[in-house]
Amino acid sequence: MREYNDIMIALDFPGAEEALGFLDNLDTGDDKPFVKIGMELFYSEGPDIVREVKKRGYSVFLDLKLHDIPNTVGNAMKVLAGFGVDMVNVHAAGGIKMMEAAVRGLEEGWKASGRSGKRPYIIAVTQLTSTDQETMNKEILIPGRVESAVAEYARNAKAAGLDGVVCSPLEAQMIHGVAGADFLTVTPGIRLPGDSKGDQKRVTTPEDARNYGSDYMVIGRSITKADDPSEAYRRCR
Ligand code: C5P
Repeated sequence: MREYNDIMIALDFPGAEEALGFLDNLDTGDDKPFVKIGMELFYSEGPDIVREVKKRGYSVFLDLKLHDIPNTVGNAMKVLAGFGVDMVNVHAAGGIKMMEAAVRGLEEGWKASGRSGKRPYIIAVTQLTSTDQETMNKEILIPGRVESAVAEYARNAKAAGLDGVVCSPLEAQMIHGVAGADFLTVTPGIRLPGDSKGDQKRVTTPEDARNYGSDYMVIGRSITKADDPSEAYRRCR
């Protein structure tokens, strides 16, 4: 079910100057990687940064992880659909009704914007890759194993009509098992061998992520903070 380049570079930069400067200096050969715009960049630059990145020919995953009451999330999705992004997301912790409202909002917004073709992908965050077993049990107060919570959230996301989930590469295989081979697994928590984990906990190398069946790898600091980002991109590839 992969229709795009399967590496997504997380553009976690404070502003447009840094983000666009990074892209302008990045040599990815004939590849046009997917680019992930998250909260930091979006909150500082707004929709203009999405338009600028799209203008440069990149596919955009707008990673704003919506989580609110169904009505609010549905209406917000209508707005995001109008930006012409390729992928959006919500937190599965918001529940099935919230996720259904998100899909409806996205579809309505997509139609209203006059765009043709299929609406953007919509996926759900299961458990953040910075969350480990102890944090999930003792602070988020979900009992049991992380893998079980991730599997249950993936089933809910599928039931609500979403296209896939964000998960650790370590869980990609299991998710394809419970939700089907076509259900997308988008996996942050990727590190080149030898790189620091930072705040991430459930991490693998790009090679292992591929072997576990990850559909899209979200890679931030291993590329953006490398001495030579173009070379790091080639190593990931
Ligand atoms: O720098 P690094 O490769 O750790 O970046 C991972 C990116 O993926 C960040 O932008 C982070 O917000 C995002 N992400 C994540 N875990 C999730 C969902 C998104 O790390 N479950």
